[in-house]
Amino acid sequence: MKSVVIQQPGELIIAEKPLPQPAAGEVRVKLAYAGICGSDVHIYHGHNPFAKYPRVIGHEFFGHIDAVGQGVESSRIGQRVVVDPVVSCGHCYPCSIGRPNVCSTLQVIGVHRDGGFSDAACVPASNAYVVPDSIPDELASMVEPFTIAANITAFLKPQPQDIALIYGAGPMGLTVIQVLKGVYGVKQVIVADRIDERLTMARESGADWTINNQHQSVADALAAEGVKPTVIVDAACHPAILQEAILLASPAARIGMMGFSGEASPLTQQSITSKEISLFSSRLNSHRFPQVIEWMEQGKISPQKLVTHWMSASDVKAAMTLFEKDQRACCKVLLTFPM
Ligand code: NAI
Ligand code: MN
Ligand code: ZN
Repeated sequence: MKSVVIQQPGELIIAEKPLPQPAAGEVRVKLAYAGICGSDVHIYHGHNPFAKYPRVIGHEFFGHIDAVGQGVESSRIGQRVVVDPVVSCGHCYPCSIGRPNVCSTLQVIGVHRDGGFSDAACVPASNAYVVPDSIPDELASMVEPFTIAANITAFLKPQPQDIALIYGAGPMGLTVIQVLKGVYGVKQVIVADRIDERLTMARESGADWTINNQHQSVADALAAEGVKPTVIVDAACHPAILQEAILLASPAARIGMMGFSGEASPLTQQSITSKEISLFSSRLNSHRFPQVIEWMEQGKISPQKLVTHWMSASDVKAAMTLFEKDQRACCKVLLTFPM
């Protein structure tokens, strides 16, 4: 079989490897589709602090089970599955309270261990979730990015009367917009981005009002309308945004952040406490696959609105360059397998 391997930062190769055999408790997934994510590009460039090399990248993938390891029901062979990349120990403090995504010995498939940009991948059987027939093969790998939105919104507990402000209309912002509108029925969703094409996608995903904050400050735009957001999500993740979000937020607002920048964000206690603002951070997902699969089945979210390209996995280099360099024409890129 063939696998996409980052040998070391900056060096991507397509390697020929023997077909792996599933260990006890594992299933082997024959790949059909896999999504490219910003974190794959970060591992390629050596900007992911958790990655070890050489590494098969890819953590958003779909295929069917074609072999099982010891202790796994052979009836699972043939199942269409998506894979939760979060591998956890099951007994540390975060695991014991239902938050395996921050397990003390967290292993993320495609980051800490080999991932899904491969003709086949072995994963723990409990990480492989069955996809119902109503979700087509070519969209099933989109479950994973929506689990990020499911996780952060579970902290924010959106209500119909909320006014939400989302920074960033990349894949993460768009999934959050769709969940706020399609699942929680939030009254008004406002989106800020610097790229008009991304703002068009935001409106297609349900945004009520979009602001190009390259041309107009979000503060001015909101002040002109007398709007104070009650829920804010930073899905752009520039370290300067948190301070602005706190300034613009309504008293009693909730703010969700998902960035990993190592740069400091200047904040004062006064700006947060005087409005009694709640700050939540969210990483990956904690057991959100069943929920997202249900939302997709029910048509509450529309993954096809994010996907701009399907490309052969053998063109992975071109696909990653397109994904990285052309944010106007390109949003989610899905690779097709076998290579
Ligand atoms: P992306 O790069 O495709 O999208 C970011 C968007 O934000 C772009 O459209 C860009 O134009 C816009 N943007 C940049 N600076 C801005 C600003 N100052 N104001 C408004 N818009 C701005 O990235 P993607 O895939 O949507 O991911 C977004 C962020 O989420 C990344 O930083 C990524 O590391 C993080 N992330 C966090 C996860 C978590 O579990 N916590 C999981 C996945 C991604
Ligand atoms: Mn991802
Ligand atoms: Zn644990």
